Amino acid sequence: MTRVLVVGQGYVGLPLAMRAVEVGYDVIGLDVDEGRVKRLRDGDSFVEDVTPAVVAAALATGRYRVTTDPDDGAGFDVAVVTVPTPMRDGRPDLSYIEDAAHVLGPLVRPGALVVLESTTYPGTTDELFVPILERHSGLTVGRDIAVGYSPERIDPGNRTHTLTTTPKIVSGITPSCLDRVDAFYTSVVAATVRVGSTRVAELSKLVENTFRHVNVALVNELAMFARDLGIDVWETLDAAATKPFGFMRFTPGPGVGGHCLPIDPSYLSWAVEQRLGRPFRFVELANDINDHMPSYVVARLEHALRRRGVELGAARILVLGLAYKRNAGDARESPALAVIELLTGCGAEVAVADPHVVEDVTTTIAARRVTIDAEEVAAADAVVLLTDHDAFDADVVLANARYVLDTRHRWSGDAVEHL
Ligand SMILES: NC(=O)c1ccc[n+]([C@@H]2O[C@H](COP(=O)([O-])OP(=O)(O)OC[C@H]3O[C@@H](n4cnc5c(N)ncnc54)[C@H](O)[C@@H]3O)[C@@H](O)[C@H]2O)c1
Repeated sequence: MTRVLVVGQGYVGLPLAMRAVEVGYDVIGLDVDEGRVKRLRDGDSFVEDVTPAVVAAALATGRYRVTTDPDDGAGFDVAVVTVPTPMRDGRPDLSYIEDAAHVLGPLVRPGALVVLESTTYPGTTDELFVPILERHSGLTVGRDIAVGYSPERIDPGNRTHTLTTTPKIVSGITPSCLDRVDAFYTSVVAATVRVGSTRVAELSKLVENTFRHVNVALVNELAMFARDLGIDVWETLDAAATKPFGFMRFTPGPGVGGHCLPIDPSYLSWAVEQRLGRPFRFVELANDINDHMPSYVVARLEHALRRRGVELGAARILVLGLAYKRNAGDARESPALAVIELLTGCGAEVAVADPHVVEDVTTTIAARRVTIDAEEVAAADAVVLLTDHDAFDADVVLANARYVLDTRHRWSGDAVEHL
């Protein structure tokens, strides 16, 4: 039976491991995080798209094992690397990819396939990943082992476009590597898209997220202008979106978050600057605008409070939403964290509600975690909706709030203002 080793059991690695079990592979999930491994072993899950029942069912097949010990992965046929690729001090941090290559080097044997899925700038697979693998295995890529890159397009919470139904871009270091990568993913997802080099595959992923980042920045800037011009930006965008071609609707918001938009475009602009010595101006501008949105939200709150004779520094603010996106529990890079930090920095007393975010982020922000009820809403000088979770009870908020700044255009009422 084909043995698949998935390195990293997070938002990307866990769904892939579950799918690989589903299609019949023998799967080892490897992670350095002992807490995560223990939870998975107990049949629990921290990724919304993977229910505990799915993890328990995978364990019950006897074809899913999760471990912190790399030696458990020895003898794998296919290894897929899904480790983090954050920014550190304004630079891409590829140390997790390097670590993964170091771990896989001694484990890989002739005939095996290794695929990198982590999002990264063009050149990472052939310049960084392959040399470490070759050095630590003594094997040659393209002759003894196959290596490729296949970016992950998973969209947490999206029930329509899933890992299985979304076409997957596949690439290889050599044409025969590409065939191996393609054959593996063809067994896992509905459709693959072959491209001619790992660099095209790496860049395609960054382009997808940069496209989104830039367009979100466009409507965010538009929202700020439109308000000053006295024009409703939401109605404007609804009107423009009736054009059946050549327009794609993006919505304004309190900033961008998650593991993709705030980071991936910067991987690309960093690589452009390094290689070509010139800036990627669109990305810089988009960063500028999107990074400014939390301050804009706070300025709007300050303004609204002042109209009612309340100073922000003496105000009590109820923040609704910590996650960076609707109905998700991921607060990484969330603009809500920046908004809360700005509010508390001004002296405001902040309470925050988010039923989806289970991790304790209160260690990094000075806000009280609360659940929404009439008393909590009524006690706030202002309520700000940052994440439009379905779980937020609009009736309770609208019946009891003195003022609501709705940054997602979900609610309406006398007390409600939109971004
Ligand atoms: N989350 C998304 O929606 C998404 C979508 C597309 C692409 N990506 C990309 O996929 C990659 C992974 O993202 P994620 O959201 O799954 O991250 P994550 O933090 O949820 O998961 C990564 C896991 O890798 C583990 N890890 C780190 N170093 C390791 C090592 N040496 N060996 C074994 N495990 C190790 C971590 O403990 C963690 O559990 C990133 O490059 C990200 O940009 C993420």
